[in-house]
Amino acid sequence: MQSAQPSRLSAAARGSFATALGALVATIGSAVGLGNIWKFPYLVGNNGGAAFIILYLVCTLLVGLPVMIAEIMMGRKARANAIQTMRALSPSARQPWWLIGAAGALAAFLIMAFYTEVAGWVFAYVFKAISGAILSTDPQVTSQAFTDLVTSPFQSLLWQWIVLAVISLIIVNGVSKGIEATTKRLIPLLLVMLIIIAVRSLTLPGASQGLAFLFTPDFSKITGAAVLTAMGLAFFKLSIGMGTMITYGSYWKEDQNIPTGTARVMLADLSVSVLAGLAVFPAVFAFGFEPAAGPSLLFITIPSVFASMPFGGVFMTLFFILTAFAATGAMLSLLEVPIAYMNERFAISRVKATLITTGLLAVVGAPAALSSSTLSGVKLFGMNFFDLYDFASSNLLLPIGGLFIAIFVGWFWGRKNVFEALTNSGVLKNEGVVRAFWVIVRFVTPVLVILVLLNGLGIIGG
Ligand code: TRP
Repeated sequence: MQSAQPSRLSAAARGSFATALGALVATIGSAVGLGNIWKFPYLVGNNGGAAFIILYLVCTLLVGLPVMIAEIMMGRKARANAIQTMRALSPSARQPWWLIGAAGALAAFLIMAFYTEVAGWVFAYVFKAISGAILSTDPQVTSQAFTDLVTSPFQSLLWQWIVLAVISLIIVNGVSKGIEATTKRLIPLLLVMLIIIAVRSLTLPGASQGLAFLFTPDFSKITGAAVLTAMGLAFFKLSIGMGTMITYGSYWKEDQNIPTGTARVMLADLSVSVLAGLAVFPAVFAFGFEPAAGPSLLFITIPSVFASMPFGGVFMTLFFILTAFAATGAMLSLLEVPIAYMNERFAISRVKATLITTGLLAVVGAPAALSSSTLSGVKLFGMNFFDLYDFASSNLLLPIGGLFIAIFVGWFWGRKNVFEALTNSGVLKNEGVVRAFWVIVRFVTPVLVILVLLNGLGIIGG
């Protein structure tokens, strides 16, 4: 291992998760987020129900999990931020693998730009749920409340900045005292609240229609674009393809089992997605609402659905609090990518690095925040800033980043390094698992990503 560009911080000064369990929970905290609650249900709804879930599972197993294993492994090996990890592991200083890390940092900003805005709406909705402002069974009323929020430049920016302030206050406390301690508290609470709501939803009369919607496959909806969406979701969900998992891997424990640990993260994340589907769809159908309502499902339909049930205000408040918790853990992991880099590469303190990152985000995020108000007329490639950031990051940057990560690990880093890293130098007796990983990451993952990308962008096939 060479380090072309040594860190200015000594290795001992690096943060790290305190325990293996803490590392796992923090990583689950990164994966679980708005993706589960805001994206997963409406994408399943729009793209053929169970047929889409099956596609998503295939992408998760053959693309998502292998790339997550690769990233955690690389980060833990190099014990550095994403950019310097790629530099340090690169077999030759002349191969510009660090570009993957740099592209990742760009992706982090694009994702944060729209993510903080959606999170801002969620934060705002916690207060609206408590005050009863959105407790109406009439979607016209809840729709108006949402429109009022997103078309107000002042409110859009304000809530985005509140979100930025909250996550900054957590992350300046460091990897263990900030990220690990927070996610350890939030994730169990989130699960409990989600289970309560899923049980409520499933026990409503007429709930079975929602189950049928979620689990009856409609294969006619499966197009190249739908497959690309499923793969993009797998990347987005598992926080892979841009260096978040490299960064978190660099804080994992030396004796932690990476294949099993990452599989647990993946299963936990999948459970939350399915639970979110179970919390949403049975109730939506039970009260006769329209399910495939796009992103507004969360902000327009769901409030009306809750308003229709007894103690709806309580359930609605719980629902938006749990969504806010989920978003917080995910945003911490996005923010950590540039902060770790600035901190290690330039010895900028965490506080300063956080201020710089958040300041930049307030600038890059503003167009997304204002895309429904001041800038609603501005369209690039037929999309407003919000949709463009989302599409460019999930469906392009993440898969391309993941593709290069798989190629790097499978074809450049070397078999010996991979086996040593994933068996913990032979301590774990898991050669079979590692061999399977080795074949998939070399042959299956890259080919699938390339095919899905080309097909989804309409370059090959129909
Ligand atoms: N996985 C998170 C979610 O589902 C979002 C997220 C956090 C993310 N970190 C990321 C997405 C890094 C892509 C890359 O909400």
